[in-house]
Amino acid sequence: MAQVLAGLGTSHVPVIGRTLKAGTQAEVGFKPFYDRFEAVKAWAETQKPTVAVVIYNDHGLNFFLDHMPTFALGVATDYRPADEGFGEPVPRIFQGAPDLGWHMVNSLIADDFDISTCRKMELDHACTTALDLIWGADSVPPVAIIPVVINAVQPPFPKPSRCLAFGCALGKAIRSYTKDARVLMIGSGGLSHELGQFGKINQPFDLMCMDKIVGEPEALAAYDNDQIVDLAGAQGVELMTWLVMRGALASTRPDVLASIYHAPISHTGGAMMLMSDSQS
Ligand code: DHB
Ligand code: FE
Repeated sequence: MAQVLAGLGTSHVPVIGRTLKAGTQAEVGFKPFYDRFEAVKAWAETQKPTVAVVIYNDHGLNFFLDHMPTFALGVATDYRPADEGFGEPVPRIFQGAPDLGWHMVNSLIADDFDISTCRKMELDHACTTALDLIWGADSVPPVAIIPVVINAVQPPFPKPSRCLAFGCALGKAIRSYTKDARVLMIGSGGLSHELGQFGKINQPFDLMCMDKIVGEPEALAAYDNDQIVDLAGAQGVELMTWLVMRGALASTRPDVLASIYHAPISHTGGAMMLMSDSQS
């Protein structure tokens, strides 16, 4: 039987992966962020997830303003990272999980989430940042991945409450898969930032989100996207990726195994939180 082991929320910022590639983590101001990831690496070594479902927003690589799915899920057998303007990335082939992916698509549609199904996708920094932090930026993670993309780029966005419900449906889909899979849910995005207004960070809002996401995610889902943009900046709506991840956990109050908030990382309120799903 498939299990959801844990949920990991993490900010995605290109400089995180580029610093890892350069091996200069000890030299940057946000070194404490890397240090805290040692706990996530140790968790992965002992718990041995076999699949990472990575929930993130695509930044114009697969979907642009001319075709923008609200929710999309990858069912490819493999994926490659794309050139996002920093030069050709180190060639890496990430293993997909098409059988579980198709099971999730069918289960989601049966639950009224009419998701787009992608047979081919390129990965951007939003998908690879957390994987790089756990398993290294120059190697291939020892897990299969399922990319789940939500639109946090071009309005209209899905409502935060819909994202929490979507996460619940994702968790239900995974738990109804009869083959073995040890799944780590990753929500990659946020927290507060607005790239057009460099440095717009709302630390009290970010810390409130990290508090509520554990036992009261409905309180965050009660915001609408206009309120989140006002409070956390235009790209602060990436918080929705954390809500999807949290919705997939069955526990009402998961155990927080590790967390850190460090601001700024680049132009972003940098956050990480690992929650175990003991109810799975
Ligand atoms: C930054 C943050 C993002 O979410 C992103 O997608 C790109 C850059 C930043 O803070 O630099
Ligand atoms: Fe982003």
